[in-house]
Amino acid sequence: MLSYGQRIPIKTRSEIDKMREAARHVAEVLLILRDRAEPGMPTSEFDRVAQKEISQRGVKSSFKGYNPYGLPKYPAVICISINNEIVHGIPGDRRIEEGDLISIDFGVSVDGYHGDSAVTVIVGEVEEEKRRLVEKTHESLDKGIETMRPGKRLSDIGHAVQSHVEPEGFSVVRDFAGHGIGSEMHEPPWVPNYGSKGRGPRLQPGMVFAIEPMVNAGRADIEILDDEWTAVTADGSCSAHFEHTILIGEAGPDVLTRIEGSH
Ligand code: MF3
Ligand code: CO
Repeated sequence: MLSYGQRIPIKTRSEIDKMREAARHVAEVLLILRDRAEPGMPTSEFDRVAQKEISQRGVKSSFKGYNPYGLPKYPAVICISINNEIVHGIPGDRRIEEGDLISIDFGVSVDGYHGDSAVTVIVGEVEEEKRRLVEKTHESLDKGIETMRPGKRLSDIGHAVQSHVEPEGFSVVRDFAGHGIGSEMHEPPWVPNYGSKGRGPRLQPGMVFAIEPMVNAGRADIEILDDEWTAVTADGSCSAHFEHTILIGEAGPDVLTRIEGSH
């Protein structure tokens, strides 16, 4: 298991180059998927589009076949989680509808090095409460990223996320966290989206993390569906999810999965 105690890998120049390339593909494909989000689109179609991009680009899915802790192998190249679904939703026949919040999560590797990112998209017009949830969750990721500079402590990230969304009446999901990323999609350490600041290891240049706040409009509790993957809010409230892969640079955060036009 990943924990605070484990050593956090420092990436070499050539490892960073591979991760930067993987992350750029992730960012480009997420933009393509985001643009396809229209009412009537079946969730399986997003997966098909992503699969085609993977083949054309000659990269490898980080998600398909993934089976941590003896879970069934993840069957798709994206996760797509709608409204009360928090994360790890499996693409299928369901069609997205006007007013839905859809969170699309995508990761690939290049020469064995991974990039991982997620975005919540609003389909058409939504209620003000949903729009505010998406906006604040997105902002909370940026608040977390702002702390990611050499000398800061690991727990400063989650503290910044939590402090941004809780005053809005929203809650941070506890059961999932950000993570180190590199030659494995999930490397040490876990990076919870909550906690006090000033704890845990100091951030150093060459560390790379995937930071991914999941924020519920209602309570933080989750349930897992019978497919063993899809996490939903226990109270049925909506949830939003944003993720970036970020390198700790000498001068501050370097958001590897951010390109022009992306979240
Ligand atoms: N961003 C997700 C995470 O870090 C990606 C995992 S999806 C899976 O948990 F399908 F591969 F599990
Ligand atoms: Co992730």
